[in-house]
Amino acid sequence: MSSELSPIDTAKFIAAKQATEYVESGMKVGLGTGSTAAWLVQCLGEMVRDEGLKIKGVPTSDRTAKLAREVGIDVVTLDEAKWLDVTIDGTDEYDDELTLIKGGGGAHLREKIVATASDRMIVIADASKKVDTLGAFPLPIEVLPFGLPVTHGLIEETLIGMDVLGRDIVQRMAGDTPYITDEGNFILDLHLKRIGDPRQLSLIVNQIPGVVENGLFIDICDVVIVGHGDGKVTVRDITNDTSEVVRFDLRDDDNIFADIAD
Ligand code: A5P
Repeated sequence: MSSELSPIDTAKFIAAKQATEYVESGMKVGLGTGSTAAWLVQCLGEMVRDEGLKIKGVPTSDRTAKLAREVGIDVVTLDEAKWLDVTIDGTDEYDDELTLIKGGGGAHLREKIVATASDRMIVIADASKKVDTLGAFPLPIEVLPFGLPVTHGLIEETLIGMDVLGRDIVQRMAGDTPYITDEGNFILDLHLKRIGDPRQLSLIVNQIPGVVENGLFIDICDVVIVGHGDGKVTVRDITNDTSEVVRFDLRDDDNIFADIAD
């Protein structure tokens, strides 16, 4: 039962569950990466197995691809799908304009490509992800291994002219060795504390040759669905300028994923 979940897992689960309302048979669906997106994949898998939902899923990481296959979703590549009806993914931060910081899980490159190739992007989150100003969460930048010190130095120089509060750049590690993305690249995490102008920062950082992609998602997200530990879910659609509150009755909600939560 979801009442046995922690408040944070309950929040992620019900946000994911609500997001399945946007998925119909015949759709091609981008599948995000991270602990919240993992709930979504579980929910969709249940619908495929028990309700005959027929979708093609395009995963945004190798680990999401593995999970999607395990739960019975028909997995295809973005090249095969070409264009998607919807992508549903988590986020590390979002602001009032639904600008996001993503990439805490190291998958923002594929996530951005997949979300951009979708009619709609829906973000699912718990309430801790909402910020007034982006930047408390370190901004991930995927960079080529080739020429890393040069790229690092150029990013450092670029930050001098930016509206940010911190300028520390830390290479992401996996234990004692550099973290490697699914595309074989490195990640630099920028500890900016505050990003005053995300659009400017994104444009300028992406002009540095060794930069592959930054984790700012600007004008990509259409809907944010936020779950709360008490069963409340808020849905904000900035395309239609609507907000809605939905309530889940946690006592009646069978949670078959309690033993396999990410
Ligand atoms: C993966 O690279 C990220 O963009 C995730 O979507 C993001 O970090 C959210 O993850 P959680 O849902 O685990 O917080």
